Amino acid sequence: SIVILDFGSQYTRLIARRFRELGTYSVILPGNASLERIQQENPAGLVLSGGPSSVYDEAAPRPAEGVLDLDIPILGVCYGMQYLAHQVGGEVKRAGKREYGKADLTRYGGQLFEGIQGEFVAWMSHSDSVTQLPQGYEVVAETEDTPVTAIENSVTRRYGVQFHPEVVHTPKGGQLLANFLTICGASRDWTAQHIVEDLIAGVQAQVGDGRVLLAISGGVDSSTLGLLLARAIGDKLTAVFIDHGLLRLGEREQVEAALTPLGVHLVTVDATKEFLGALAGVSDPEQKRKIIGREFIRAFEREAREYGPFDFLAQGTLYPDVIESAGGLSSDKSGAANIKSHHNVGGLPDDLAFKLVEPFRTLFKDEVREIAALLGLPDPVRMRHPFPGPGLGIRILGEVTPEKLDILKRVDDIFISGLREFGLYDTCSQALAVLTPIQSVGVMGDERTYSYTVALRAVTTGDFMTAEWARLPYDFLAAMSSRIVNQVHEVNRVVYDITGKPPATIEWE
Ligand code: XMP
Repeated sequence: SIVILDFGSQYTRLIARRFRELGTYSVILPGNASLERIQQENPAGLVLSGGPSSVYDEAAPRPAEGVLDLDIPILGVCYGMQYLAHQVGGEVKRAGKREYGKADLTRYGGQLFEGIQGEFVAWMSHSDSVTQLPQGYEVVAETEDTPVTAIENSVTRRYGVQFHPEVVHTPKGGQLLANFLTICGASRDWTAQHIVEDLIAGVQAQVGDGRVLLAISGGVDSSTLGLLLARAIGDKLTAVFIDHGLLRLGEREQVEAALTPLGVHLVTVDATKEFLGALAGVSDPEQKRKIIGREFIRAFEREAREYGPFDFLAQGTLYPDVIESAGGLSSDKSGAANIKSHHNVGGLPDDLAFKLVEPFRTLFKDEVREIAALLGLPDPVRMRHPFPGPGLGIRILGEVTPEKLDILKRVDDIFISGLREFGLYDTCSQALAVLTPIQSVGVMGDERTYSYTVALRAVTTGDFMTAEWARLPYDFLAAMSSRIVNQVHEVNRVVYDITGKPPATIEWE
């Protein structure tokens, strides 16, 4: 394994992720982890991560005594390199200006860059720089602004890079990290199967004989978590799926069919009446969200009492949620950081205080998808687009009524099934239909109609913070339009949303 000592960089987790992608198990430990703790992992190599500090700060984090003397290769990244160099007699200067962004290496070589050819673009984010090399080290890469961009001591096997090889903005960084693994002689047999076994062992150790409650939303994270927990603790898990009536056509059945046969003790609750009752007469979007959130907590609380007592509450929190909540991105009212708020059952009363089980806290979405495949989650659920907690409730502009829900469910189903049928589903990040309050004049046969307008929307995006409208083929849109107006008589006009985010949002409410 590779041990990564975390000195506080926002990218630390990515280093672990890259090693895992390369097939090597890696663990992140706090920067000041004890020598014994590190040795427990029996590491083949050590990485000192980046971090916001300067080696001259009073409170600058440092590795524990003896760690740098371990007879294994060590790679320092950014702050990690500065620390390494400073520690063995090099000089680090506080640069006047901060270097941030892409830089071309004007020269590179040595063991870390073995086999790498052509231009090397490196992502920089630092103010301090190494200005004097420690004894025994040589400079193995430089940029115009940073003469000491990478260092190496091939005798003691100490390496440092000023840039961040772990981010995508350093396209050849993966190869550099692979070279480090080779230098370490680290084994490359870490697979998703190992991750699953590891997660299962972790849950068993944390939960013991305790009982666990899980809210299933139908999305990939909570579904996969359900499968994992069922494997780990069997019927000590109760998974509660609250059907608020704002789900897609057939969604509840699909989730049940995916989870129940695989041993998840699933309790489905039909709370449609309560939700629609509470939403009656309400048209303000934020008000609707609040009501849906409140009703969700109520329903969940009811089931928790009914099936309880529980010791733990499981949540499908992913690593990006963890960074975002720490990084304060949550100000975006409907951004990714908020996606979980609907299921964040932090609003539960004190007598329902649970300890949290969050096995996915260190994982990224695509890793969860990989695990899901191993655990047997069917592809339509596994590769599903995200779906907001308030569901179709925020896709019916204005008041939500059973009639409007019924119309939107049928339209949405035609659109989403159409995307699958035409092989377009996986080309978009999210697709949805919106029922607008606009009624307009049309003609059907010989008859004048006065019916609803629906909007179709499909976007491509990486992080859902910004998005482009998907360039769906005209022929596909034409097919959708005629299917919708032919099959859903309450609709006589179909429009396609060609607005990006910003200035629009993905949802219409
Ligand atoms: P917007 O509309 O803000 O959406 O561009 C970005 C992403 O967030 C989802 N979204 C929500 N998810 N509760 C959720 O769980 C919400 O209230 C909510 N609002 C938006 C949206 O579907 C998209 O994926």
